[in-house]
Amino acid sequence: MGDRQSKITVVVGAQWGDEGKGKITDFFAGEVDYIVRFQGGNNAGHTVNVKGVEYKLHLIPSGVLYDHPTSVIANGVVVNPQALIEELHRLKKSGLEPRLAISARAHVIMPYHMAMDEALTGHQGALAAGSTKRGIAPVYADKMYRHGIRLMDLTEPAVFREKLTKAYQFNTRILTQVFDFPWDISLEAIYEEYCQYGRELRSYITDTSLLLSRAYREGKNFLFEGAQGVSLDIDHGIYPHTTSSNTLAGHVSVGCGVGFRTLDRVIGVAKAYVSRVGISPFPTELEEAQANLLRERGQEYGTTTGRPRRVGWLDLVQLRQAVRCNGLTELALTKLDILTGFAELPVCVAYDIDGERVTEMPASLTAYRAAKPIYHTLPGWQELNSDNPNFDSLPPELHHFLAFIEKAVECPIKIISVGPQRHQTILLEP
Ligand code: GDP
Ligand code: IMO
Ligand code: MG
Repeated sequence: MGDRQSKITVVVGAQWGDEGKGKITDFFAGEVDYIVRFQGGNNAGHTVNVKGVEYKLHLIPSGVLYDHPTSVIANGVVVNPQALIEELHRLKKSGLEPRLAISARAHVIMPYHMAMDEALTGHQGALAAGSTKRGIAPVYADKMYRHGIRLMDLTEPAVFREKLTKAYQFNTRILTQVFDFPWDISLEAIYEEYCQYGRELRSYITDTSLLLSRAYREGKNFLFEGAQGVSLDIDHGIYPHTTSSNTLAGHVSVGCGVGFRTLDRVIGVAKAYVSRVGISPFPTELEEAQANLLRERGQEYGTTTGRPRRVGWLDLVQLRQAVRCNGLTELALTKLDILTGFAELPVCVAYDIDGERVTEMPASLTAYRAAKPIYHTLPGWQELNSDNPNFDSLPPELHHFLAFIEKAVECPIKIISVGPQRHQTILLEP
């Protein structure tokens, strides 16, 4: 296996999610044969803006706006079938006919997972991540307990009933007896509803590991679209304020069932500042008055939940970790247009933790809670032609901003984005 002609590109989040992965994925999607989601679920919200029309995608990869590539929801993704069917309907209504393959092995988000997410959030208090309430932690937990439901099961009524009975009992007991949570959806109602989803999705469900492996042998090109970002990774993020999957590029092979020996391009998408929806320490977070300005300009409201995003200055400690843990070959820096007009732009180069200068992300939550940003201040730029952008006409301060980041995180910036549209993207190297 491993035809050398296949080109594999991975797009991952280099911060706390919402960096613009959807936009960057769409930008490259026209050049590939398969676009694959390999982790996460409909906690993700990826916005793609084509010819002034905005599409919000939660499960279907952001390449779906092109005709020819096949969109794949691989085994590492957790699927809410109702959300998926709604997303398919929405796309069809806007005139698109998605070519979609969904892994038979992908785990299914059930109603008790969403109820558990609600109950758990109440229980976790200050240690909660502020989840999207989409049932993500409980569905991945059930996968590990080994009483999860996989998409294939929805098409096999006898096995589905057998597995559902076990999982339903387990979750019902915890919901009602541990959390005293109001839970009254019957097993029978869930069984009927989910068998119907199985019938509706049957034509898309397949062995996507085989599909992708064969395509790999034929030398087809792949684009993997990550969800969330490094600080939300279950192992390397700011645990427990994370999501429940591995968001790193290293998860691609497991999440899709193909043992790729080489990833040609691993693109880390980072905003030129930082946003965060949910709860965790956030060293570079801005005070409310300044945060408001950036939030309104950048329209920083969650794509999935509509929650106002917390915003702060660029954090190079976080970005350095993204480079290291993902093995990034390059960075895509987005939303540079939003920073236009600031006299000065602080970027965080290290943390002060109890008087000590720390330049790598600490594992300790105590340390992270105490971290204060140490800033280096760069001159801002006052004008930016974001309608018809080209590299040479960018302001010198912006060139300097990019060069400073590249040097500090030891990774080249090869793509910059100055607006939500496809043409508002500059490749710094072919
Ligand atoms: P994702 O989850 O990483 O795909 O990012 P989201 O879609 O949740 O959030 C990014 C938002 O920024 C979307 O509304 C994009 O349309 C928008 N966006 C992406 N790149 C740029 C950019 O360079 N400038 C501006 N102004 N908006 C951008
Ligand atoms: P995209 O792919 C931003 C955050 C939630 C919460 C934590 C855990 O659009 O970048 P979960 O529902 O996964 O259990 O929530 O992770 N979160 C995201 N934040 N963008 C996302 O996805 C996110 N997906 C989850 O706010 O803090
Ligand atoms: Mg998003």
